[in-house]
Amino acid sequence: MGIAFVHLKAILLILHIMLIDNHGREINYMRLAVTDRCNLRCFYCMPEEGITYAPKKELMSFAEMYHIVDLFSKHGIDKIRITGGEPFLWKDMMTFLDAISKIPTLSKISITTNGTLIHDKVDRLKSVGINTVNLSLDSIDSDRFFQITRRDDFSKVMESMDLMIQSGIHVKLNMVVMNGRNIEDIIPMLELARDKPISVRYIEEMPFNGTQGQGNKTLWTHTQILDLITTHFPKVQKLVDPPASTAMNYKVPGFKGDFGIIAAYSRTFCGTCNRIRLTPKGVIKTCLYDDGIFNVKDMMRSGANDEELIGALQSALGNRAKDGREAEQNRKALNPISESMATIGG
Ligand code: GTP
Ligand code: 5AD
Ligand code: SF4
Repeated sequence: MGIAFVHLKAILLILHIMLIDNHGREINYMRLAVTDRCNLRCFYCMPEEGITYAPKKELMSFAEMYHIVDLFSKHGIDKIRITGGEPFLWKDMMTFLDAISKIPTLSKISITTNGTLIHDKVDRLKSVGINTVNLSLDSIDSDRFFQITRRDDFSKVMESMDLMIQSGIHVKLNMVVMNGRNIEDIIPMLELARDKPISVRYIEEMPFNGTQGQGNKTLWTHTQILDLITTHFPKVQKLVDPPASTAMNYKVPGFKGDFGIIAAYSRTFCGTCNRIRLTPKGVIKTCLYDDGIFNVKDMMRSGANDEELIGALQSALGNRAKDGREAEQNRKALNPISESMATIGG
């Protein structure tokens, strides 16, 4: 690192417009889950029945979420990803996007969605500056899609994908790969990238499925995924990954799109982790695998000012686990992992 850069980093830190954790990593990305509700029931995320959604008063309000995004962006968070649950189930989602798109200190807003509710919103998304959308799609076979999601919405998701591609939004398709469920989809999914400018991302299954610590019994690892793909496409090329990328990215020569493998369970990418999470109940997580560090909603409701909120964030970052393994070991409340991904936001 150049001397000038080190000085600049120190000045930005002193001015509180940069967030650095205790491992020297710059934290500039927040994943905000705006709701814990979902209209699908993907089995790797939630049980089919018996889900208890948080009562409304326990969820952050529009104003509270806006306040935190605005405040944190002034202190170094310049990228926000909106997740859920399914973010478009929240009735204020479009108004919220509109509002945060006007925050000058935010340079990138992206969304992760199941794609079932957006076919009539694509133009508006584009007009508020959403240039990339990550779409969950675990199978390109409608029967298997139904088996995995327990809902019959395959054609809606495909329609949303096509509409977004037509409007120039970059689509990343998220496929959670599961042994015995959708291994046969790995190659057909990649075939979508032959003529479409999309990124197909294969994700290792994690144990966040809302069942009391039953784990990810259908795990299929990142090496198994790559081995299978290279058997079909021996000329696969490695691409240069963007900084702090969760995906290891590759290309099949001649394909319009590319593909990535996200070792979400093996956690190969923690060393460059630049992210924090904010759950629908207001909990800040400094790692996906921790069980929550502090609650901004509770702080705001008991009268905390901005300085105190930023102070709490800085102190959480000053004591951050070095990686997902350490964060998992440090869990106290929810051990073994039993949350649903919908309550965290992925
Ligand atoms: P971009 O790189 O900005 O496109 O997004 P992303 O891949 O971080 O986000 P997305 O919401 O599409 O998540 C894809 C998968 O990666 C999901 O299964 C996430 O839960 C997982 N993932 C995202 N961030 C992390 C992380 O920090 N740690 C781990 N272990 N998994 C993550
Ligand atoms: N393991 C891995 N990925 C998951 N997702 C949801 N639950 C899990 C899990 N148990 C993915 C979704 C979505 C992203 C935010 O997280 O498919 O694309
Ligand atoms: Fe960051 Fe934790 Fe994910 Fe690793 S597992 S990349 S430390 S959030």
